[in-house]
Amino acid sequence: MERFVVAGGARLAGEVQVTGAKNSVLKLMAASLLAEGTTRLTAVPAIYDVPVMASLLETLGCSVGQEPGAVEVTVPAEPGCEAGYDLVRRIRGSIAVLGPLVARCGRAKVALPGGDAIGSRPLDMHIAGLLKLGATVEVEHGYVVATAPRLTGASVWLDFPSVGATENLLMAAVLARGTTTIDNAAREPEIVDLCTMLGQMGAQIGGVGTSTLVVDGVDALRPTAHETVADRIVAGTWAIGAVMTRGDVRVDGGRAEHLEVPLDKLVAAGAQVDVDATGFRVRMEGRPRAVDLVTLPYPGFPTDLQPMFLALDAIAEGTAMATENVFESRWMYVDELRRLGADVRTDVKHAVVRGRERLSGAPVRAHDIRAGAGLVLAALVADGTTELSDAQHIDRGYQGFVESLVRLGADVRRETVPDDTY
Ligand code: EPU
Repeated sequence: MERFVVAGGARLAGEVQVTGAKNSVLKLMAASLLAEGTTRLTAVPAIYDVPVMASLLETLGCSVGQEPGAVEVTVPAEPGCEAGYDLVRRIRGSIAVLGPLVARCGRAKVALPGGDAIGSRPLDMHIAGLLKLGATVEVEHGYVVATAPRLTGASVWLDFPSVGATENLLMAAVLARGTTTIDNAAREPEIVDLCTMLGQMGAQIGGVGTSTLVVDGVDALRPTAHETVADRIVAGTWAIGAVMTRGDVRVDGGRAEHLEVPLDKLVAAGAQVDVDATGFRVRMEGRPRAVDLVTLPYPGFPTDLQPMFLALDAIAEGTAMATENVFESRWMYVDELRRLGADVRTDVKHAVVRGRERLSGAPVRAHDIRAGAGLVLAALVADGTTELSDAQHIDRGYQGFVESLVRLGADVRRETVPDDTY
């Protein structure tokens, strides 16, 4: 187990680099399955999930070359079609192989990933969409098995703009016979990134960046080279950290246009945000003001920045209300934040946070990537020392988190300790 030991009282100042997005690169790796040959991805972050996805692709017969910042996936003429539980359960993003495999091989057998610390995560919309595209889908023995000699274009309407369902259906539709319309599609920058890569591979996709995607299926795609879009959640984490610590941080490579709502909220909290050609700078003097937030699919406030913003509200002047609309159990970490002295009350969808001048360091535990990052930010403004256990969750989504914090002036160190036995 990894443990981060964080000394409170830091002021983050300096420059930090943002790499490609976790939630894009995993899907881009899956998309490479759609074409025989070698696809090269760059701006690949050095995070835990990437080698796990690489291992999954290897079990499907691909060879995967990894070098710093890049991945090359070589896909055989006939990839395997079975993605086992052992790898799928480790990273939720691996469900993204379902669409490409059924499109490419006529059959896919992918383990159900199961729930996790942020809530139940069913696949009903993925499955309903594949059924519409003409696949036979069965869920048996913990696997979803989809079969279709060739998918056929159809009109699909999503009940909720699910990121994962939109991605899977897009990757299925690009090789289907005829035209597919996906209505109420997710339009996160990572979806746009996937559409861009699929377009380079020869896919015909209209409405990119809108909630109606129109896909004209083609017979085959070709491999490509593609640079992963910058990670807006990592960039947003640094921006919030700068405000909480009354610091001055330039986020190099951060795409402010992908963070409009969160950066506006930081301005409402009292920060100064300056956008330049290759990133943005966030400065803060004094104590932030409390700011309400409501998580929503893009372009709304991202659920993945909710824990960090709650940490900010925990030390802000005033009372804030946060509303979580995307994941049902995304308040699980709040008990940990309370251990740091935060005054937070939650019900199913809401949290009311009464800001306190300072928090106090304590031993706490990371339940997931984003909760872990939020707790580290809280620890930076707490008196004394915080020991964050299960910090390996943070390694799933943030490249060199501790090193970046240290470069920005924080006193943080990593310890590897034996796993608890129960
Ligand atoms: N949902 C269903 N049925 C479905 C699909 C989704 O009910 O068939 C529900 C989910 O249970 C959830 C909501 O719809 O309540 C949104 O889920 P979505 O499918 O949009 O999320 P996802 O694809 O599972 C991705 C990211 C998450 C991010 C969400 C929302 C990856 C690997 N994960 O998840 O990222 O929070 O979109 O933006 O891309 C993280 O990085 O820490 C993380 C959790």
